[in-house]
Amino acid sequence: MGQDVAVKRTEPADITAAVVASFEGCRDPRVRELAQSLVRHLHAFATEVRLTEEEWAAGIRILTETGDITDERRQEFILWSDSLGLSMLVDALANAKPEGATESTVLGPFYVPGSPEREYGDSIMEQEGGVPAWIHGRVLDVDGSPIAGAELDVWEGGDNELYAVQDPDAPEFHLRGRFFTREDGGYAFLTTRPTPYPIPHDGPVGHMLEATGRHPWRPAHVHMIVSAPGYETVTTHVFDSESAYLDSDAVFAVKPSLLRTFVNRSVDDPERPDGVSGDWVSAENDIVLAPARSTA
Ligand code: BEZ
Ligand code: FE
Repeated sequence: MGQDVAVKRTEPADITAAVVASFEGCRDPRVRELAQSLVRHLHAFATEVRLTEEEWAAGIRILTETGDITDERRQEFILWSDSLGLSMLVDALANAKPEGATESTVLGPFYVPGSPEREYGDSIMEQEGGVPAWIHGRVLDVDGSPIAGAELDVWEGGDNELYAVQDPDAPEFHLRGRFFTREDGGYAFLTTRPTPYPIPHDGPVGHMLEATGRHPWRPAHVHMIVSAPGYETVTTHVFDSESAYLDSDAVFAVKPSLLRTFVNRSVDDPERPDGVSGDWVSAENDIVLAPARSTA
């Protein structure tokens, strides 16, 4: 018998159409667009691969584990976004830069605000380890004029493959610091030559990498957020151009314009920085900031 109702949600396409239509009354047009498009793509994915009940139950389990492992020190959701290339896709959509401006790349989960302010040429190493590296350059505008007083917020992992925030044995501010450019736009600091390291792979993202035959390694890099009033802030990296994994970064964040040569320097080099007692390396890294976008 059955009632003669106008509802018909039996075929896959009918279900998708009904859910998309359920958002028609959403007053915010952007929220409506996001919700409807998300449902369309999610349903298209499930339909295309003919997702089984067991597979979707596994998907729910992975999402639950992602929430369980996430806390104020570990952000597995960002790691999913990074390892699936979504962070770099959103970056590419948001951060088209004018010709010549320094390109942005992924922030990553290990940025901690509130690094100590340091002076020109200071070391950010608060414990031993690694090859000393002198990183220097100027912050410029797109016409090549120096920007005085620009802030460089820098952070880096140690040669033990850990950032200070991950390492209970490291001083809080190890391999972190904020520098301000001089009148000529110049900055310099002493750090360790970066080494490749794996993204955290003891959780759901690590299981995905293993199950799909991918590796967790990132090429050697130093992070920087560079900002100045009147300019667009850029979140970027200095990549060591000789590093392994430049062509297979686990988070797809390498841009050729961000590669820099780390030059070998001897202990006898007259430019050897204070506090360096053996061989060292140096890398020159100018940063070019784009003018702030008009909000008009
Ligand atoms: C990082 O470079 O710190 C990083 C970026 C993305 C995921 C994990 C680590
Ligand atoms: Fe990093």
